[in-house]
Amino acid sequence: MGEQAQDVREQVRERYAAAAVRASTRAAASCCGGGCSGEVPDLTGGWYDEVERSSLPEEAVLASLGCGNPLAVAELREGETVLDLGSGGGIDVLLSARRVGPAGKVYGLDMTEEMLALAQANADKAGATNVDFLKGHIEAIPLPADRVDVIISNCVINLSVDKPAVFAEMFRVLKPGGRLGISDVVAEDQLTAAERAERGEYTACIAGALLFAEYRAGLAEAGFTGIEITPTHEAAENMHSAIVRATKPHEAVASRALPLVTNSTSGECCG
Ligand SMILES: C[S@@+](CC[C@H](N)C(=O)[O-])C[C@H]1O[C@@H](n2cnc3c(N)ncnc32)[C@H](O)[C@@H]1O
Repeated sequence: MGEQAQDVREQVRERYAAAAVRASTRAAASCCGGGCSGEVPDLTGGWYDEVERSSLPEEAVLASLGCGNPLAVAELREGETVLDLGSGGGIDVLLSARRVGPAGKVYGLDMTEEMLALAQANADKAGATNVDFLKGHIEAIPLPADRVDVIISNCVINLSVDKPAVFAEMFRVLKPGGRLGISDVVAEDQLTAAERAERGEYTACIAGALLFAEYRAGLAEAGFTGIEITPTHEAAENMHSAIVRATKPHEAVASRALPLVTNSTSGECCG
């Protein structure tokens, strides 16, 4: 990874480490939206119903930094194995853990120590025993191939400095027939990288967003089929929070891992 990409990743880590500390002191965090810089809209609100929110530790809810509710489309079943990419304070891990039950398993993957500590504390408070938080990068997932039934992620892939690697890794760790249920920020196809950067910071989930066409092409290149990207609400002008769904075909045996799609959203970080 180039020096500039490493710098951007470090900026992302620092921002979410600070958000985790704020959440653990019960100050509402809202970095993947307004709050940290005050320059971007709040992307997070309103996607979990009151019953879901009230069943979780307050710190897990306060640490919620997503831009949607990936569980709304993931259709989790008892006994399934789930992986949450960029699990943050653990809100989607804990909700998934309930849905898959004691026979299931939920992994939360995050690169930020402070977030992992917060998520583990929240899991302890919630009494969740079928969860495991892993430290690592979504571009190099620390799990073997064909391990998980479902990958969820909430407003994280836009933050990656190597999105083709993320798509290839998701494909690798999913079982054949496995599926994606992802919330992410996606930009309309006419927007240039500069226009995306004008609308908000990379670390606030805006400047690094892929175009709809890039997202689709990246997933297809990794081998996914049944790709659907459905906008749900506006994140910035001509940019949307969206639900991304796709499937790893049953006949798939190995990731194609051909990173032909580059992140054109930020020439300064992803070259
Ligand atoms: C916007 S927050 C979303 C957290 C959580 N999904 C939620 O909905 O509250 C992004 C999270 O992804 C993590 N993250 C960002 N880039 C990552 C990467 N490349 N690898 C692993 N974790 C990453 C950050 O540490 C942070 O916890």
